[in-house]
Amino acid sequence: MAVAMAPRRLWCCWILNLLYCIELCVGFGSPMARPHLLGSAAAAARRSMPLSKVPPYETFYFTQLLDHFTFSHPQATFQQKYLVNKEFWHGAQKAGPIFLYCGNEAEIEYFADISGFLLEIARRFGALLIFAEHRYCGESMPFGNERRAYKNAKSLSYLTTEQALADFATLITDFKKNLSAKASPVTAFGGSYGGMLAAWFRLKYPHIVIGTLAASAPILQFEDLVPDDIFNKIISSDFKVKWSALILLLEQMKLVDGVGRKHDCFSTYNVSARPHWIVTEFGGRDIKAVLKDFGSNIVFSNGLQDPWSGGSVLEDISSSIIAIVTKEGAHHIDLRASTKEDPSWLVDQRESEINQIRHWLAQFYETLIVI
Ligand SMILES: *[C@@H]1O[C@H](CO)[C@@H](O)[C@H](O)[C@H]1NC(C)=O
Ligand SMILES: *[C@@H]1O[C@H](CO)[C@@H](O)[C@H](O)[C@H]1NC(C)=O
Repeated sequence: MAVAMAPRRLWCCWILNLLYCIELCVGFGSPMARPHLLGSAAAAARRSMPLSKVPPYETFYFTQLLDHFTFSHPQATFQQKYLVNKEFWHGAQKAGPIFLYCGNEAEIEYFADISGFLLEIARRFGALLIFAEHRYCGESMPFGNERRAYKNAKSLSYLTTEQALADFATLITDFKKNLSAKASPVTAFGGSYGGMLAAWFRLKYPHIVIGTLAASAPILQFEDLVPDDIFNKIISSDFKVKWSALILLLEQMKLVDGVGRKHDCFSTYNVSARPHWIVTEFGGRDIKAVLKDFGSNIVFSNGLQDPWSGGSVLEDISSSIIAIVTKEGAHHIDLRASTKEDPSWLVDQRESEINQIRHWLAQFYETLIVI
């Protein structure tokens, strides 16, 4: 697989190219596969959508700290974009649930557009729905604009998964405070890299999120947790989509090293590799033993047609960290809006996911002391 480099932008991390490409190619099977830029793909997705179907989201911006892990002063900030749909919400008084989509590597509208399932279940559960944009994506650009944000290793050094998770945590906490909805339970969602974020969000911030649906989230695709070639075993196509940079995993992922391409990226951007960091930070080794007693309330959904399934959790870890695996499924197809043509396995899969969410919420409301 070749690595295309372009000035000022990172096209280098093939694994992330793939993440994105598979979003478009495998998950959709639509004519918009293989676009050249993230932005244009999302715009194309919107253009192809009939107006009446454009989800009714309101757009907001939240002032985020650029660096959550320092107390130096003054602190730089940037505007994080988020989309909200409140039309089905049961409200703060009733501690109506909040569903949070953990944005991944593109502008957030794109994920709102392709995750119609969330709107359907928001209606079902009386939930408020938020799509939070990932830092360094879409409009959520530090340093004022994309050119400056992606300028060099220094400007990119705040692009990490830890910072992104802290963004979600602070955003949702402040958001609940503003709505006087502190009692409302938050459930997290995400597909692909967003699914990884959602799963890690539950593990790192269990006091903020009661449960997570992580669709097609290859959280084990690091170091030697799964065989290096597992992805290629499932898919043999050669993807070369230009991919707007996300260095957050670059500095952490051993995978890139595994195919010997890491140095291209690092020599261009002077980013020092931390090949073992992601496993140190988020775990993954002996995941069954570790999470069996420690974690809870995560659904890992996967379709075996999806090459990323090889790096995901395909077996139940405990009675509340469960794997929903479909033989026919593709890359987080379960998050897409349902249609009349959906095959029965997909309908069943979504029902199982809904049952889990219902169970988490019931658990939560049982213990909630309503004053
Ligand atoms: C909460 O309200 C404050 C004051 O109006 C505002 O600055 C902030 O952005 C709001 N938080 C969110 C998450 O929108
Ligand atoms: C990377 O570091 C080298 C040596 O320290 C320097 O000459 C070069 O300009 C740096 N490149 C970038 C893109 O910052």
